[in-house]
Amino acid sequence: MALEEFREQLAATAAALAEPGTGLLAADESTGTIGKRFEAIGLENSEAHRRDYRSLLATADGLADAISGVILYEETLFQDSNDASGGLPIVELFQRQGIVPGIKVDQGVEPLAGGLAGESWCTGLKGLAERASRYYARGARFAKWRAVLQITASGCPSELAVRENAWGLARYARTVQEQGLVPIVEPEILMDGDHDIATTASVQEWVLRIVYEALAVNGVFLEGSLLKPSMTLAGAACPHQPSAQEVGDFTVRTLSRTVPAAVPAILFLSGGLSEEDASLALNAINQAADGVGAPWHLGFSFGRALQHSCLKHWGGTDVAAGQAALLARARANGAASRGCYDAGSEPSDDASLFVANYSY
Ligand code: 13P
Repeated sequence: MALEEFREQLAATAAALAEPGTGLLAADESTGTIGKRFEAIGLENSEAHRRDYRSLLATADGLADAISGVILYEETLFQDSNDASGGLPIVELFQRQGIVPGIKVDQGVEPLAGGLAGESWCTGLKGLAERASRYYARGARFAKWRAVLQITASGCPSELAVRENAWGLARYARTVQEQGLVPIVEPEILMDGDHDIATTASVQEWVLRIVYEALAVNGVFLEGSLLKPSMTLAGAACPHQPSAQEVGDFTVRTLSRTVPAAVPAILFLSGGLSEEDASLALNAINQAADGVGAPWHLGFSFGRALQHSCLKHWGGTDVAAGQAALLARARANGAASRGCYDAGSEPSDDASLFVANYSY
């Protein structure tokens, strides 16, 4: 079908994901990545354990109060749950709670020929229309594609990496919109490095300018799209780490200069911040946004910062403890999306979740 026929539905889906006080649960770890999470709690990376864990997420009662959508990995979208009611599809358990299911559609990054050392491009365009239409038929209403850039003293990101990754995001966004899926456009700038926050801000402004230019060239319908950026932070090894308020001010300035007001929501990734730091930064971003009357909903699409203590408390067996930890971080981030989170008012694990050159 042509994009025209999906316009209204795309805008309605994007608006549902931009509901005030909510964000997304990014539970789309690839099989390899969830294996690393399980390893940390001493659990084998089997299909049954993945099903148990994702069933825990889908049956957390009250999750929809702060979670409007969930990003799934392909296996989960087609997997039946372990629930007592007879193994309903996991996707249906989320839908019953009123949580919109989405799907990771990129197929990971590969080294970028002609780029600088460590630079990548994101794969998954071939066959994408056909995959997107199958995902739509199974209930998915939005998609995610993660492109990765990094800032280094040796000149990354190169112009080639910025343009290639922006173009890939735009081709993906246009392709999935034609199949009825709202594209989440994710140009992540990694926290790796010792650069300061002003450097991140100027690189991120450049990246977002090129991304929105590519979306325009491809005729992407902005009202039916969402942006998932990293927050404007200093590099993880920068000796001067900015306060949450500085992060809020810089992030809102970066976005105000580059993201069209037609985009309904900006849903940040957590990128390696600890659970509490991610909530505090999101809270400060919303407070800064209120000050300047920013046009978009500023929410979250956290993976690690929503699931870290949940995984730990679950440990493969204790579903109630895992769900309680998940709900606590969901509530914290729901409040932070309104700029009214009280520091420390919800339990968290304060471990840094930063992993060098992280892959999802
Ligand atoms: P983190 O919040 O763990 O960075 O992951 C979000 C995500 O979906 C990255 O693509």
